[in-house]
Amino acid sequence: EKGPYRHFMQKEIFEQPTVVAQTLQSYIRPIEQQVALPQMDIDLAGIERITIVACGTSFYAGMVAKYWFETFARVPVDIDVASEFRYRDPVLQPGGLALFISQSGETADTLAALRHCKDNGQKIAVVVNVPTSSMAREADLLLPTHAGPEIGVASTKAFTCQLAVLAALAAHLAAKKGKLSREDEQEIVRHLIEAPAALNAALAHDAEIASMAHLIAPARDVLYLGRGPDYPLALEGALKLKEISYIHAEGYASGEMKHGPIALIDEAVPVIVLAPSGPLFEKTVSNMQEVRARGGKIVLISDAEGLHEAGEGCLATIEMPKVHPLIAPLVYAVPVQLLAYHVAVAKGTDVDQPRNLAKSVTVE
Ligand code: F6R
Repeated sequence: EKGPYRHFMQKEIFEQPTVVAQTLQSYIRPIEQQVALPQMDIDLAGIERITIVACGTSFYAGMVAKYWFETFARVPVDIDVASEFRYRDPVLQPGGLALFISQSGETADTLAALRHCKDNGQKIAVVVNVPTSSMAREADLLLPTHAGPEIGVASTKAFTCQLAVLAALAAHLAAKKGKLSREDEQEIVRHLIEAPAALNAALAHDAEIASMAHLIAPARDVLYLGRGPDYPLALEGALKLKEISYIHAEGYASGEMKHGPIALIDEAVPVIVLAPSGPLFEKTVSNMQEVRARGGKIVLISDAEGLHEAGEGCLATIEMPKVHPLIAPLVYAVPVQLLAYHVAVAKGTDVDQPRNLAKSVTVE
């Protein structure tokens, strides 16, 4: 079943262009260049606030979506991990929209949070990969991802498919709320259609990333930095690395580094920087200088423009295609997945079945 691949995780990383395209097919009308969501009895234009709840990698997809919902639709978003949300007695306004994101649709904490929101008058939207799951059954608005079965315990293709659905939802919400012109919606749809090709371009760096694994494999700690919608990608990169290679890794918002984690930096702590060129890039370059001044070794993941400006003096660089900011989180997921994968392979760990982890966490 793994075909030419050594592990399910590797196969699933490489499936991403196909499954993201497959997922987008149900959310966009390419001819009209329009976002299209399933029929629903929710008045999206009337939504004043969104509450997002999820766990793990699905939670990071939600963090990215918060940026999108706020930027494009100007709707305030409250987001929390399910295990915290459920027990902090959250304030829920009647008629609010609660959005749950889950590959399995069975994660106990997320399901308990969903039921809590339902009991408290929230409309329930779910982004799930298993259409027969409990969450899918209990939703008012079901937004399926079409990633196909995900076997590797570490989530990869489910994550990028979640991002694809969430990007379409953000654009649709923005259009419904009158925050997005017809032309802007068309432009977003065009960028979404280009996402699978951009994912392929990112995957083309596989061999190069494999050859960097020996730079990371001996580390005891690794830091990942990102800003804006790429901050959750830094968190996701760190999670992937720790899950499958057992190297301690932390993701930070680039600007937070000087508020503490910079104390960790020395020659032995690789710092992976996720920074597409754009308005936030200069700020990240300053953060890189802070790392360098302390002997830190940087792996910079950016586009040609970013690498041209800041690639010199890095331990390694990985060039991503230049993409619209909406697509960047999907594309930048690929190098962090591949890096974690190849480091784990170099360390000889059980990539598909990492110790202590289960694919679906059905206990609270
Ligand atoms: C990370 C990972 C987990 C899951 C989390 C939520 O690679 O797989 O963090 O993302 O357990 O699972 P779902 O999405 O099934 O609710």
